[in-house]
Amino acid sequence: MEVYEALSQLRNKAVKDPVLRRKLLETRNSRTPLSDFCRLSTQAGVELYEMDILSAGEDYYAAMRRSTNGGGENSPLLVGEDDYYELFLEELAVMERNGRNLAGEELMIRGHRTRTRIVMPPIATYQSTEDGKVTEPMLSYYGARAKNKNVGIVVTEHSFIAAGGKAKARQLAISSDEDIDGLRSLVDVIHEGGALAIAQLNHAGSAAPSEVTGGKAVSASSVVLPTHPMMGDGTAPLEMDQAMIDEVVRLFAAAAVRAQAAGYDGAEIHSAHAYLLNQFYSPLTNHRTDEYGGSLEKRLRIHREVLEAVRCAVGEDFILSVRLGGCDYMDGGSTIDDSVYAAKVLEESGADMISLSGGMCRYTRAGHGEAGYFQDMSKAVRAAVSIPVLLTGGVKSLSDAEDLLANSAADLIGVGRELMKDPGWGENGYD
Ligand SMILES: Cc1cc2nc3c(=O)[nH]c(=O)nc-3n(C[C@H](O)[C@H](O)[C@H](O)COP(=O)(O)O)c2cc1C
Repeated sequence: MEVYEALSQLRNKAVKDPVLRRKLLETRNSRTPLSDFCRLSTQAGVELYEMDILSAGEDYYAAMRRSTNGGGENSPLLVGEDDYYELFLEELAVMERNGRNLAGEELMIRGHRTRTRIVMPPIATYQSTEDGKVTEPMLSYYGARAKNKNVGIVVTEHSFIAAGGKAKARQLAISSDEDIDGLRSLVDVIHEGGALAIAQLNHAGSAAPSEVTGGKAVSASSVVLPTHPMMGDGTAPLEMDQAMIDEVVRLFAAAAVRAQAAGYDGAEIHSAHAYLLNQFYSPLTNHRTDEYGGSLEKRLRIHREVLEAVRCAVGEDFILSVRLGGCDYMDGGSTIDDSVYAAKVLEESGADMISLSGGMCRYTRAGHGEAGYFQDMSKAVRAAVSIPVLLTGGVKSLSDAEDLLANSAADLIGVGRELMKDPGWGENGYD
């Protein structure tokens, strides 16, 4: 009976592990199906030997014969000695059809098909040239990750839309038409790998250090960022007037047009991690009393203007995502309720997807390191909007992602640092 025990363990693993399941199913087409099946099982930590399966098949056959009252050759279920293997695979095939592999499911976003629900979120590598152009190391870095069949979308690292919004030396640029050719080669390696490519557009606001930009930083209000460690140069920025706001809206639209010209499938407006649009959104950094501050609705006015300007500039076929630092997780800061309200406004204003992360707390959350540490927010947002919601933070394995999807925490799961460390993340299934 041990073999039944082993097969049941293998079944439990295969339920959660679509890669293992697919590989086991593929043994049907191999020259030595049973021995390949046993080899995969052993690799997955369940020791099974060919002889065990064969004798299990025989046992099963004998049992069936008995239960069908000596049915013998007329047994309706079994015709050969490795039938147990076939029955097992049939069960796996049913699981596959029932779609238990949630992370491997496709999703259509504004007419673009992502092959899986796993997203490589933007991770700044700061490997560009001094003036922000794409370099060879970036092509191989992104190419290697886009080739990973678990990855459906690659969002490239935050790119500055104007020199005054540059956060760091060697940050990627999307501020001039001269950036387009390099970006096109970046998009090409991502598409060659089979993933969709989305460009993250950013203005750092008060997080832009004057030693990088050569000028005074600007923001919603003249407030020093409450982030730890400090961002920018720690001085109070210049409060933006209407003309400056209009200019930033225009700059986002111009950058999105460049992303489109470079072949990207979409653009992501960065409004998280304490950068400019997040500074407008958070009550900790927006103390304005005009049309851009005060109520949450007003703090979101610039977001609406940016989305509308971008959509108008890129047309209907381009994905628009917003990375929303929905909650500051700080006293007096933005709340989960705010993120729900904001997501609805963003959806109404033309966003096709919401990528959730932290606000002034940035992309981590004090006291939390578990997979999906922003899921209290993503669940609330997901229940309120009909566009896909992306949850990122703390996901280590495919099985973490599968669990979050199964618990309806999000429609898409971001995997940042793990993919940064290992381009082949998840390729061995759920171990
Ligand atoms: C080195 C580093 C660079 C990052 N750069 C960006 C960025 O350019 N834009 C952005 O929105 N988030 C950025 N993030 C945040 C990640 O997208 C992600 O939200 C975070 O790493 C948490 O997810 P993880 O636990 O899967 O790594 C960065 C994170 C790290 C560690």
